[in-house]
Amino acid sequence: MTAMAELGEAELQQHFDDRVAKDQRIEPRDWMPEAYRKTLVRQIAQHAHSEIIGMQPEGNWLTRAPSLRRKAILLAKVQDEAGHGLYLYSAAESLGVDRGELTEKLIDSRQKYSSIFNYPTLTFADIGVIGWLVDGAAICNQVPLCRTSYGPYARAMVRVCKEESFHQRQGYESLMTMMGGTDEQREMVQDATDRWWWPSLMMFGPPDGDSPNTQQSMAWRIKRHTNDELRQKFVDMSVPQAEALGVTLPDPELHWNAERGHYDFGEPDWSEFKQVVSGQGPCNEQRLARRRRAHEEGQWVRDAAAAYAAKQAATEEEAR
Ligand SMILES: [Fe+2]
Ligand SMILES: [Fe+2]
Repeated sequence: MTAMAELGEAELQQHFDDRVAKDQRIEPRDWMPEAYRKTLVRQIAQHAHSEIIGMQPEGNWLTRAPSLRRKAILLAKVQDEAGHGLYLYSAAESLGVDRGELTEKLIDSRQKYSSIFNYPTLTFADIGVIGWLVDGAAICNQVPLCRTSYGPYARAMVRVCKEESFHQRQGYESLMTMMGGTDEQREMVQDATDRWWWPSLMMFGPPDGDSPNTQQSMAWRIKRHTNDELRQKFVDMSVPQAEALGVTLPDPELHWNAERGHYDFGEPDWSEFKQVVSGQGPCNEQRLARRRRAHEEGQWVRDAAAAYAAKQAATEEEAR
């Protein structure tokens, strides 16, 4: 019996709280409150699902990329997102859940994914704007997660963030190229910016006043900043980028507030956000239907992998 196993619940809780307060990582074998474990499973699963579903809006343009170079870049990015999903499912599994179970919950709509991936990609400029704004927002959200209290999640985020910054740059670079092109290309970039700006702001979740779990997640140091703090950071970062690009952000209330040292900005349409989160967005049905079909079509791969593993185990057993 280890020393930890002899401790009572109150002492274990104290030990956990002390470690979190000292900014030490909680590892899979450590004792943790059940509510902490459940919150992490929900958050990491939702994050993993978002990476996987997020492959669809961009995958839509793989066969129609305007050049071999753009196609190679987009292909690499979409593959990165698959990798992010896999790291995250692995991190979730370290909390005692099974990724098959999580996938079932996604395709039965019992777990969510980011609302942003329920919007359509209408032109190739959307691909650039997704890299710039959606991956940009993901970076704001995820960089602080490199210091989140749960070790496997924090470590997965380090590599994910490096790749996200490549995603952001490739998007911005492709928009710069389009802005130096024809009037029609510049209009495409402006139109895509107009459509993605508000949904990008919604990626940080509801306002702090409507986000009841934030305080507990901050206390556990799962979250390091509130939704509104991160949203502000994203706006402050994006405005000079929009200026350099030569596009207008579709918010008449956006202006520099010298007193606060931040940009003031308008309120996103939270009724739209609620609608999209609850499954009524423009592409929710299509995204889930495609994910369901891919899961069914992948059954033979899972069967083959399981049969191969069983055969390997039997061969090893024989060799002993
Ligand atoms: Fe990603
Ligand atoms: Fe990304």
